[in-house]
Amino acid sequence: MRIDIITVLPELLESPFSHSIIKRAIDKNLVEIHVHNLRDYSTDKRHRRVDDYPFGGDAGMVMQIEPIFAAINHLKSERNYDEIIFTSPDGEQFSQKEANSLSLKENLLILCGHYKGIDHRVREHLITKEISIGDYVLTGGEMAAAIMTDAIVRLIPGAIGDEQSALSDSFQDNLLAPPVYTRPAEFNGWRVPDVLLSGNEKLIKEWQMEQSLERTKRLRPNLLND
Ligand code: ADE
Repeated sequence: MRIDIITVLPELLESPFSHSIIKRAIDKNLVEIHVHNLRDYSTDKRHRRVDDYPFGGDAGMVMQIEPIFAAINHLKSERNYDEIIFTSPDGEQFSQKEANSLSLKENLLILCGHYKGIDHRVREHLITKEISIGDYVLTGGEMAAAIMTDAIVRLIPGAIGDEQSALSDSFQDNLLAPPVYTRPAEFNGWRVPDVLLSGNEKLIKEWQMEQSLERTKRLRPNLLND
């Protein structure tokens, strides 16, 4: 799989992909992640500007279509993209289901939004999907791109050592994950549930399912209706 990200702040995306599971997935050649500076495609070679004042005289700057068109076209000339995603609070809400679906794709292109907005023609003509990571407004789409990339990449087979552990994540079957514990079995008078120490795999599985259901009903009942 390959993920390309177009941004005006490539530095913001250095750290999220340089550690832990994402870095391992890159090192194992399970995924390539390429971050592109939108300013490299600016028509203004001197100041490398990629934004301008909005028509109609509103406050705030607007991302211009020309550099975005050039960047997307350049990347599209090299490969076909399954989706060209724009990060925006207006988008469809990101979910585990969406992460699962995107993790099966070959090539993804993510365009990070910035400034007050983006020339609407980009949204009408150049992208295939708008995704929001939640009902709040970030200063830019970079964190959203990093979060989506993380959720997608960890699902690629082989990215997580124990593949079972991605399948038993919260949300994977619309249920929250059951509680987990590790040694010591008792700390400060707080004991791990006896069933987990019983060695009885069937009882443990039953207990985990009960816990998942109880936690989902109590904490996220909407998941059970979905
Ligand atoms: N850009 C600004 N806010 C955002 C959000 N909530 N999700 C995705 N991209 C964004």
